[in-house]
Formats: sequence, structure tokens, C-alpha cells
Amino acid sequence: MEILERIKPDGKLIGIDLDPSVIQTSSNKNLILVNDNYRNLKNIYKKLSDDKRIGKIDGVLLDLGLSSDQLGARSRGFSFQDSGTLDMRYNASSDQMTAAEILQSYNQKELFRIFKEYGEEPLAWPIAKKIVAEREAGNKIETVEALVQLVEGVYGRHYRAKSKKSPATKVFQALRIAVNDEFGNIHTVLPQAIELLKSGGRLAVISFHSGEDRIIKNYFRDESKQDKPRIKIITKKPIVATEQESQENPRSRSAKLRVIEKTFN
Ligand SMILES: C[S@@+](CC[C@H](N)C(=O)[O-])C[C@H]1O[C@@H](n2cnc3c(N)ncnc32)[C@H](O)[C@@H]1O
Repeated sequence: MEILERIKPDGKLIGIDLDPSVIQTSSNKNLILVNDNYRNLKNIYKKLSDDKRIGKIDGVLLDLGLSSDQLGARSRGFSFQDSGTLDMRYNASSDQMTAAEILQSYNQKELFRIFKEYGEEPLAWPIAKKIVAEREAGNKIETVEALVQLVEGVYGRHYRAKSKKSPATKVFQALRIAVNDEFGNIHTVLPQAIELLKSGGRLAVISFHSGEDRIIKNYFRDESKQDKPRIKIITKKPIVATEQESQENPRSRSAKLRVIEKTFN
């Protein structure tokens, strides 16, 4: 809303989301909503600029991950508090593998890598092992309940029910990142966003995961150290939520904002 206010009267805001359920029809002449993957940013922009509806890009904001609405939505399998099938695709009509299909087909090493790399899960290996053992015993892990039970079983006595977080939180996050190739999407979109910006334009990225932040930080650092750098880093350290915002909105605690400016075209 704030962005729409600031671009009045002639600016255009292009909102891209992969989840068709968050794209509504817009009656605001400044707002163009597109149901697509942001990894296709260049093509999306090209189509829109061919339609002569937009000019050069002043700013790109990437707000990564999933929304609180999606996390709370029943039956998509994003959260350990959910129930039903482990889907986790942002766009359920895509032909990507669901989380249940990954659990059913990846080998132990691949499952371990996902849980470790995307979830920083300390018990990644025993969890992967248990999943494969269950499969071999003919038990499919297709539902939220089955996965939560399995992870809690592996944690057993390590698990202290002190916190509200289930020990399955990290495994759920890891599967979501794998299902949607979220790290791949970031790698793919960053160079496109920088290329499309006009000189003086800015790219801001909000991430919620240390793995995402590392990709962004390293990419910005490498770009800014080229012989003739196309960008300059605006935020030497990421901007994080204030104490007050963290209290009002607990999910903001893990958010990091990094900003760069395009120096020339
Ligand atoms: C943190 S939420 C954005 C919330 C939004 N900025 C707002 O203020 O309401 C992240 C959104 O990104 C979408 N998303 C995730 N991966 C995507 C991708 N590769 N391409 C497009 N949208 C994606 C999700 O469906 C989700 O709605």
C-alpha cells in the first residue's frame, strides 16, 4: 500500500506471485498483478514493456519465502500445525514434485542433504534414515501428521517440550525450500533484477533464512568487487527488525533486508 501511495500518479507497481490464490484482480491503475515465478522476471518484464504499459525499472523488492496466510492455510502442508497431505507447492497446479513425492522417492543421502542444507537440522541423518526405513516397511509418509510423528519419534528423549516449536519445524522448512527450489530461484532472479534496473535504481531483498541471506550477501559482494562494478552496496550490514517490531510481529525476528544500487547501465 505504501509503495502504491508513493508512486502516484503515474508510477506502476508490478506484483508477482506464484500462488494464484494471492493474486486478485486489481482495479488500481497503478498496479499490475502477475501470477508467475519471479525467476522469469526478465520475460515478465519484456512482455509488459512490449505492451507499452511500463518503462524502465526504478526498484525491485523481493520479499522471499511464504506468507503468514499460507503458513496458516489448512491442507497445503506448509506447517507442522497443519493437517492433511504434504503438498507445499506455491502453485498446486504446477508439475513440480510435492513434499510427499520427495519423501517417497529421494534416497537417504538426498534427503539428508535437504534437511541439513535447507533446514540446518541437527538430526538430518537419523531422520533421513527413518524415512527410508518406513518406506521399505511399506509405510508412506504422505501426511503432515505422519511426518511430525516420525520426526518426534527420532527426537525421542532429546526432545524437550519446553518450546512451542515442534522438533519437525526445520524439516518442514527444508522440504518447502526443496519443493519450490527456493535457493535456485534466488540465484536465478538476482542477476536479472540487476540487469533490468536503471542507473540509480535499487534492489531490496528481504530474506527469512540464513541460507537465503548467504546467497544474497555473497552475490552482492561478488558483483560489487568486479573491475567495473554494476552495483554499490547500500546496506553494509543487513537491516533487521527493531525490538518493537519483533514483539508486534514475531515472524519479523528472522527477517534481513539487504539493499544495493545500480551504478550504471
Ligand atoms: C513473504 S510473502 C510476500 C508477502 C507480501 N510482500 C505482502 O506484503 O503481502 C512471499 C510470497 O512469495 C511468493 N513466492 C514464493 N516463491 C515465489 C516465486 N518463486 N515466484 C513468485 N512468488 C513466489 C509466495 O507465494 C508468497 O506469497
